[in-house]
Amino acid sequence: MTAETHRQRLQRVREQLAEKRLHAFIVFNRASIRYLTGFTGSAGVLVIGRDDEALLVTDGRYQLQAKEQTKGTGVKIAVTRRYHRSVAEWLKRQRWRQVGFESRHCTVAFLEAMRERLKGTAVRLVGVNEVVEPLRAIKEVWEVERIREAAKIADVAFEHALKVLRVGMTEKELAWEIEAFLRTHGAEAMAFPPIVVAGERSALPHGQPSDRPIQKGDLVTFDLGAVVNGYCSDLTRTVVVGRPTAEQQRIYRAVWEAQRRGMEALRSGIKARQVHRIVRDALKAHGLERFFTHGTGHGVGLEVHEMPAIGQHSRDVLQAGMVITIEPGVYLPKVGGVRIEDLFWLTEKGTELLSHAPNPPKLLSV
Ligand code: GLY
Ligand code: MN
Ligand code: MN
Repeated sequence: MTAETHRQRLQRVREQLAEKRLHAFIVFNRASIRYLTGFTGSAGVLVIGRDDEALLVTDGRYQLQAKEQTKGTGVKIAVTRRYHRSVAEWLKRQRWRQVGFESRHCTVAFLEAMRERLKGTAVRLVGVNEVVEPLRAIKEVWEVERIREAAKIADVAFEHALKVLRVGMTEKELAWEIEAFLRTHGAEAMAFPPIVVAGERSALPHGQPSDRPIQKGDLVTFDLGAVVNGYCSDLTRTVVVGRPTAEQQRIYRAVWEAQRRGMEALRSGIKARQVHRIVRDALKAHGLERFFTHGTGHGVGLEVHEMPAIGQHSRDVLQAGMVITIEPGVYLPKVGGVRIEDLFWLTEKGTELLSHAPNPPKLLSV
């Protein structure tokens, strides 16, 4: 990735500023700051002016790093711990009036401090969202390659978990096996803390691994993701320890079918909520839709959850270039749950599966 990439991305934000009649835009989301400038520090605020200016405010810890990472992008660096003062002074100096800011990522404290500092000036702060996120949703090929790499490591980590799984091991021990494997096989970080939930705990869609030992007959759900060069992956599989019951098999098959329906529906131009509807209807055919308690999927990139959202309330439309998950689940309280999640790249030609962990139509027995 070069400074040229970042300059182009900043330019695309500026085009939107012109359309929205904004003089400048303030970015708080760390992943978006990285996307636009290359800066990977944990603290910073980015102000993008509509002409050629951009200012990244960060603190002393990142003085050298920020300079180095943003070289050639045209972004100026200000080093201070008083972020709002620096941003407010710059806005005033540039004589900007209409200034958009990411209200979804700005703290109330920051906004209050800014309003105080800008009192009596012509600067007006306007909450604006979905400026950078829609750009991030459409991946360049080199971004997809990083996600593909992250997906590959997750696939292998899942297979490793199946190899080491023994009755009597706890969920936490298995989660650690996954984490250690990911880190020693190319992941720079976890996309999120791995989820391992077994038996009745598999009915918790995002349960935290506990000290519960794995038992014979348990459904075990694994949800894991790696980060490679900043980009995430996200993979879920449910397996059974020993022989499955007819009920376990039935639920699994319904979720598997629902995921199929979802993946078959994927194409550029389809409304995300329509994909969700198709997946839900597939579960409805088995009388299980009320146990499907979350959305069907989401975009994956610099963040493990990003645009588009694939759910009931989404207004997003799927487009070529997006990388998304399809992850139906059924969760029966006190009994257990099943979720199957894969990662897809939508292209002009069709859909490419990026995750390749085994996904058989019958429960995998370990
Ligand atoms: N691991 C979080 C998710 O599947 O959305
Ligand atoms: Mn997911
Ligand atoms: Mn997941």
